[in-house]
Amino acid sequence: MEARRGVARDAGAEHGPGWAESVRGAGAGGSTSPTFSLQWQLPAESRSTRRCRPLPKAVRDALEHVHEEVVARYYGCGLVIPECLLSCRILDLGCGSGRDCYLLSQLVGEQGHVTGIDMTEGQVEVAKKHIAYHMNKFGYRKPNVEFLHGYIEKLSDAGLADESYDIVISNCVINLTPDKKAVLQEAFRVLKPGGEMYFSDVYASQRLSETIRKHRVLWGECLAGALYWRDLYSITEEVGFSPPCLVTASPITIGDKELEGIIGDCRFVSATFRLFKVPGGSRAGPGQVIYNGGIMGHERELVFDANFTFKEGEVVDVDAEMAAILQSSRFAEEFLIRAGASATAAQGNCCKRAKEKICNPFQLLEQLAAPGPACCPRGTSGPPGCC
Ligand SMILES: C[S@@+](CC[C@H](N)C(=O)[O-])C[C@H]1O[C@@H](n2cnc3c(N)ncnc32)[C@H](O)[C@@H]1O
Repeated sequence: MEARRGVARDAGAEHGPGWAESVRGAGAGGSTSPTFSLQWQLPAESRSTRRCRPLPKAVRDALEHVHEEVVARYYGCGLVIPECLLSCRILDLGCGSGRDCYLLSQLVGEQGHVTGIDMTEGQVEVAKKHIAYHMNKFGYRKPNVEFLHGYIEKLSDAGLADESYDIVISNCVINLTPDKKAVLQEAFRVLKPGGEMYFSDVYASQRLSETIRKHRVLWGECLAGALYWRDLYSITEEVGFSPPCLVTASPITIGDKELEGIIGDCRFVSATFRLFKVPGGSRAGPGQVIYNGGIMGHERELVFDANFTFKEGEVVDVDAEMAAILQSSRFAEEFLIRAGASATAAQGNCCKRAKEKICNPFQLLEQLAAPGPACCPRGTSGPPGCC
């Protein structure tokens, strides 16, 4: 499978899924037909963008400690490691063999906790098999991770209580679920107020035809179940989350003529979004915030999403949505937050103007590919070429 995809398997590189074929090949009960030659590629532009956001050292180190069998059965499509994790309780929806759980288990520390849940028994078995190995490696006296066999649309069946997690993550899974709203509702239910869902998945540039949705190979490749990206915004609003913050996007190209014919002009992208469960009372107006530089591994700047980068000690104008997120989440103590937009933001000028937010992952891909200053941080300054 690796040769077929030709994508580097580091924590920042997105890895084509094709998980069902591989899992079945390994005797764990996958259910699709053999797959063709889809290419999940990171083009040069995207790679150079990743150079602007190197993996924090803590994440690189943590990755080296994960058992090779767990890593070999990783089928994610993005990096689902948010910031500010110490002592957090995290739930991984569709954890597979547990690579992301074991990464996070190190980053939350011994006082934190990570639960992984997956419907594929073989993957859960692999994850469980290596608990002792990892706890020993991390020097923990008792395990801070657990793995459950179950369905992410029915977390209550697995005994997961309301408001019991700080963060829910998911990596290339929701596309495989027919009822995406049920999954997001369950994630919302188990999150504490101010909690966050941080997840990578595959999105389509349009609603998919029935032919695509029923195509077994495309399903196994995590494409046939991809959500039209705009529908994510409407479903999350119905569920009660804050509007999605688009973090990053990587292109997916299809290298097979027959499949290209079926897909037509539809395009696919792997994108990471963050959603917050903002308590009703904390919805605020626009404001100004200053990051205190207190998050480990992000002391100089916190790249929150594609629209906001917070440099330590710098005043940043934020809209009402971001003000409410920062105020009500675990990030609150890392920021000084002042209500009311600044005069500069209201008037607008080149580098301080509140620019139009990027919500469309396909537009973000184009922006990342466009020539411009190599490391222009987005969010605190104007449009590309402006800083
Ligand atoms: C592409 S793999 C990704 C696995 C893992 N997140 C990783 O990064 O390696 C998709 C995983 O989602 C799981 N999955 C799909 N639908 C599910 C559901 N409704 N409930 C629980 N797990 C599900 C599959 O069993 C599979 O392990």
